[in-house]
Parts: sequence; structure tokens; C-alpha cells
Amino acid sequence: MKTLTVDLGIRSYPIHIGQQLLQQPELVTDHIRGRQVMVVSNETVAPLYLDKVLELLDGFDVATVIIPDGEQYKTLDTLNTIFDALLEKRFNRTCTLVALGGGVVGDITGFAAACYQRGVAFVQLPTTLLAQVDSSVGGKTGVNHALGKNMIGAFHQPGCVLIDTDTLDTLDDRQLAAGLAEVIKYGLIRDAGFFNWLEEHMDWLKERDKEALAYAIEHSCRIKAEIVAADERESGQRALLNLGHTFGHAIETGTGYGTWLHGEAVATGMLMAADLSARHGWLATADVERIATLLQQAGLPIHPPEEMDADQFIRLMAVDKKVIDSGLRLVLLKSIGDALVTGDFEARLLQETLDSAA
Ligand code: NAD
Ligand code: GLY
Repeated sequence: MKTLTVDLGIRSYPIHIGQQLLQQPELVTDHIRGRQVMVVSNETVAPLYLDKVLELLDGFDVATVIIPDGEQYKTLDTLNTIFDALLEKRFNRTCTLVALGGGVVGDITGFAAACYQRGVAFVQLPTTLLAQVDSSVGGKTGVNHALGKNMIGAFHQPGCVLIDTDTLDTLDDRQLAAGLAEVIKYGLIRDAGFFNWLEEHMDWLKERDKEALAYAIEHSCRIKAEIVAADERESGQRALLNLGHTFGHAIETGTGYGTWLHGEAVATGMLMAADLSARHGWLATADVERIATLLQQAGLPIHPPEEMDADQFIRLMAVDKKVIDSGLRLVLLKSIGDALVTGDFEARLLQETLDSAA
């Protein structure tokens, strides 16, 4: 087992990564506050792993909420069902919520923990690659609104992130690829050497080589933990983690939540950001090709949905959180491994990127 720390002073917490971790009770129970534990999972993950988690929590006063599966259920209505269960069971302020599932379950459970009785403890047990390398770490929690993704939420850090890499055995190939998009993102924004490693090992990752996956997860979490520790509330460098997300969120909203997977939308969005960076002369055209090749090798889409045109992109990008003071700010690339957040791009070139992609 590898353990990393998200260093946030007294709110620091461990990320444990390894196989068979869901069989080691103390890894979770050390981070349970009080006796009351609410496990939140969904109808797909619960049949696979809930029993294991309930065994871990033997001796606690445990209740469960099973939410429907899908991004389209990451809503205030679903959140309310968690509050209903907590109140019906008379959970108090010293309870702990446990998120067992992918990013949807993690984000909504974290938000429930942030709100319930003005904030209670929670633990992340991420079961998708995307959740293991990104969403479970860093304390961004929330739900979607019909007018924009993740528009309602809070920063609320978990007490622990427990990544049992064995849970990936049951994940389908499309979901694995979606997680690889976020892994590739870390190489692009921060670490050219890691990007090279991914180019060399993408076939291993696709074949689910355990060592390669464990290395990719650990390296991704290490980069994310460093960025979150330096800029928890996204006033600076944390925004780099949004590479491809402004384009990607437009795709997710434009096609209807759940049609394109988050990681797929981010993949196409990262290539659009790379294209725009190259149009400014910042990123070499050959590097745009390398990025497209790696994304394709990972099994990810690199072209936006056919039904979306440039005007729709512009409309949807304008409600993204990264719009500050009415100016659109984007994460762009200076090179592979070096990104910047800037509002200083040419609208004409953005239009060209959208016209050529969409
Ligand atoms: P998801 O939670 O919808 O999970 C994907 C699918 O895999 C679901 O059908 C789920 O039931 C299933 N699944 C989960 N674990 C499984 C397993 N072990 N075996 C078989 N099936 C399994 O999607 P996701 O890609 O994990 O997360 C996407 C969400 O994360 C989006 O809502 C996105 O906005 C959010 N996100 C949040 C952050 C953050 O910092 N909070 C970062 C990135 C993404
Ligand atoms: N996934 C973006 C962030 O955590 O900041």
C-alpha cells in the first residue's frame, strides 16, 4: 500500500492506494467520527461492494442510501433523498458519511456532508479510475443544475481517501478510458516526463496491468495533492486542473448530462484547448498531434459531438465557472507539461478552433 498526504494543516488527510484495501477495516474506521455512519452508493456499485464496506463498519450504527446511477441524477433532488435518510434516522452532527462509488456518488455525498447540520465528516471510497485519480481528492463537492454543471456546491475535504485498485476489475472499458483522460491531463498540465511515460505505457494501462495502473493512480494523486495543498480554493494554480473542462462542460451540458462521459468530454476539450494554444503559436503543432494520438490510443473521442456547433459552444462556455468578471478564461498549453490560465487569447482564434472542431 502507498500512502500520500493532502497537506492542509489540521485538515490534512491520507490517500491510501493499493489492492485489497476494502478488507482492512482500520483504514476507514480510523476516520469515522461518532457512531453513526451513512454509506451512500448507487444501484450499480452497491451490489458489487456494499457488503464489503458494511463488514468494514461492523460495530457502528450504519445506514445506507442507494441513489440511482448516472450523471443525470447528480441533482438537488437526489441530494434531498440523502438528507431525508439522515433526518429520518436521526443522524446527529457527529455522524460520518461514506461515499462508495464514482465521481457522481463522491461529489453528491461530499456535498451532503458539507451541508448536513452545517458540516459533518465524510470518507471517500472511490471505485472508478476517474474518481481515484481526481474527484475523490481535493474536496470539491456539488451537484449539477439544468443551466450548468457543478454549479451548486462547496469545498469540503474528506477525512480519508481509500483507493482499493481491485474495484477497477469490474469497471467497463469505456469508464476506464474516461479516467485515463484525467490521468493524461496531469501529464499535460504539470509533467512532461509523465506524459512520455503514458505514451510508452498506454497499452499496458488499457490492458489493466496492475503495476502500471497503480503507478498512474499514485502519480496522478501526487500531482493533485500538491496542487490542492498549494491552492485549496482555486485562487491560482488549481484552475490548471480544469484543462479542457470549459469546452468539456459545454459538451456535457449541450448533449445532456450522461450522454458523453465526463472524461470523454474532457478529452475532446483538452484537444480543443491544445488546438487553440497552437493557433496562438504557444504549443507546437507536432505536440497537438501527440496529444490527439495519446487520447485516441486511450480510446477517447477527439471530435466534439456532430450536433454541436460553434455558437452553441460559445453560449454554453459563457456559463462555466471559469468566467470571471464577464471575461472567459481558459486553461491553455505553453508546451506539454506546462499550462497557464489566461483570458488573454484572441476571440478570432477561439472561433477558428470551434469552427474547425465543431
Ligand atoms: P460515475 O460516478 O457516473 O461512475 C461511472 C459509472 O461507473 C457509473 O455507472 C457507476 O455506477 C459505475 N461504477 C463505478 N464504480 C464501478 C466499479 N468499480 N465497477 C463497475 N462499475 C462502476 O462517473 P465518474 O467518471 O466516476 O465521475 C464523474 C463525475 O465526477 C462527474 O460528475 C464530474 O463532474 C465529477 N468530477 C468531480 C471532480 C471533483 O474534483 N470533485 C473532478 C472530476 C470529476
Ligand atoms: N477537478 C478539478 C479540481 O479538483 O480542482
